[in-house]
Amino acid sequence: MGVLDLASSRAVAATVVVLGLVLSFGVVCNGGKTSSFVRKVEKTVDMPLDSDVFKVPPGYNAPQQVHITQGDQLGKAVIVSWVTVDEPGSSSVLYWSANSKKKKAEGKITTYKFYNYTSGYIHHTTVRNLMFNTKYYYVVGIGHTERQFWFITPPEVGPDSSYTFGLIGDLGQSYDSNKTLTHYELNPQKGQAVLFVGDLSYADNYPNHDNVRWDTWGRFIERSVAYQPWIWTAGNHEIDFAPEIGETKPFKPYSHRYHVPYKASGSTSPFWYSIKRASAYIIVLSSYSAYGKYTPQYKWLEEELPKVNRSETPWLIVLMHSPWYNSYNYHYMEGETMRVMYEPWFVTYKVDVVFAGHVHAYERSERVSNVAYNIVNGICKPVKDQYAPVYITIGDGGNLEGLATNMTEPQPDYSAYREASFGHATFDIKNRTHAYYSWHRNQDGYAVKADSMWFFNRFYHPVDDSTSAE
Ligand SMILES: *[C@@H]1O[C@H](CO)[C@@H](O)[C@H](O)[C@H]1NC(C)=O
Ligand SMILES: *[C@@H]1O[C@H](CO)[C@@H](O)[C@H](O)[C@H]1NC(C)=O
Ligand SMILES: *[C@@H]1O[C@H](CO)[C@@H](O)[C@H](O)[C@H]1NC(C)=O
Ligand SMILES: *[C@@H]1O[C@H](CO)[C@@H](O)[C@H](O)[C@H]1NC(C)=O
Ligand SMILES: *[C@@H]1O[C@H](CO)[C@@H](O)[C@H](O)[C@H]1NC(C)=O
Ligand SMILES: [Fe+2]
Repeated sequence: MGVLDLASSRAVAATVVVLGLVLSFGVVCNGGKTSSFVRKVEKTVDMPLDSDVFKVPPGYNAPQQVHITQGDQLGKAVIVSWVTVDEPGSSSVLYWSANSKKKKAEGKITTYKFYNYTSGYIHHTTVRNLMFNTKYYYVVGIGHTERQFWFITPPEVGPDSSYTFGLIGDLGQSYDSNKTLTHYELNPQKGQAVLFVGDLSYADNYPNHDNVRWDTWGRFIERSVAYQPWIWTAGNHEIDFAPEIGETKPFKPYSHRYHVPYKASGSTSPFWYSIKRASAYIIVLSSYSAYGKYTPQYKWLEEELPKVNRSETPWLIVLMHSPWYNSYNYHYMEGETMRVMYEPWFVTYKVDVVFAGHVHAYERSERVSNVAYNIVNGICKPVKDQYAPVYITIGDGGNLEGLATNMTEPQPDYSAYREASFGHATFDIKNRTHAYYSWHRNQDGYAVKADSMWFFNRFYHPVDDSTSAE
């Protein structure tokens, strides 16, 4: 063996030792993929007030901004909300299915002021005791201009109820937002309900948080949300905290306009709650409410997670706004404090997937956890963990703030795929073991998948699914 050979074999040995050390910390090899797709950089511009998508429906006191969300824990109730502007009018909802008589549900009206803006009459009416898996028609605006819509209730809660969720985040009301919504609507995978991960209207980017932009947003999304429920998560653009103009009550416009069934899951606040829908158990958390130990959100989640019966709802999905695993140079580590508080629970209870927004781009993580650290052991790197969820950032709805294009380099090992493009995703639950997830960028045709993965359920089929991504 020559000197050179000796040196190189030492180097190899040293490499092996280093590699061994690295592996003993369980570092993920094959750091992920940064998409080579480069979106043409264009300014993201809000649609002007006179755009077609913001048109006020014709007729005296016509209901506008009609939207629905789940109204109970099981999916047998729907909250129908809308706004009238000329006078309060009726809060009744008339509803029926093909084989039932017409029934009427009564609701309530609320209004609010924000600086010098006064809202219209905001109606919230809960329609209850619906049959599962049934198409219902409903009418609002009774007494003046009536408008009719429809929705389909989910299948009964159970382990093999298939269901397709859409995923949209940080939508706003730009031309790109309109493209995202159009791509979602025309996706042949046909989402049946939207899991919305926060940041709705971006009205707060206007002078005095011009709440007229909350109204235009409500009219813009009506074409989808009047027909299928959107499950709401509060983002930072819902806070509307503006002490400089005397507005000091956080979430005022959002909480008047978007009601959720939080009491049904024992929550004391609309910003964190849960629902069951088909075979999914969906937990919504608030990145912008206290989540430290002893806080209401902490106590609720601590009691909530043991309640999830995976034999009944195999798929455990968590929604939040600020991501825990994000490798863009935007909002970097903003989710860290909540991760430290709750990540051990997510691993213990084997959450399947966590969807977040906030970062205006797309990213999917490996199944990783970072829960080993204590103050002396120095183990502070995320490691591959088959009990851990996949973390998906889908804050790419298209709002006026534009894309997040600046990424940390090199791509961290926990990041499986990332791309700075606008788009949406679908999570298509087939049965108790398999769900097909795909992300669709706005530049492609409606059926094109830019990123996809077969999810294997963490309760019924907890085998490595990382190689099932395409
Ligand atoms: C509210 O105040 C702003 C400026 O402070 C003004 O431009 C706007 O027209 C006012 N809006 C209403 C509804 O009075
Ligand atoms: C928004 O998208 C819809 C559906 O594709 C289209 O009809 C409408 O003209 C678009 N509006 C704007 C302002 O882009
Ligand atoms: C969990 O759900 C299954 C299936 O619906 C049911 O048989 C079982 O009794 C439930 N377990 C508990 C503890 O409620
Ligand atoms: C990207 O972000 C890093 C970290 O914040 C910063 O140092 C760098 O200048 C940014 N690059 C560009 C092109 O903005
Ligand atoms: C669950 O769905 C997957 C994907 O469609 C399929 O391959 C598998 O056979 C299904 N399992 C059962 C038990 O039907
Ligand atoms: Fe945000």
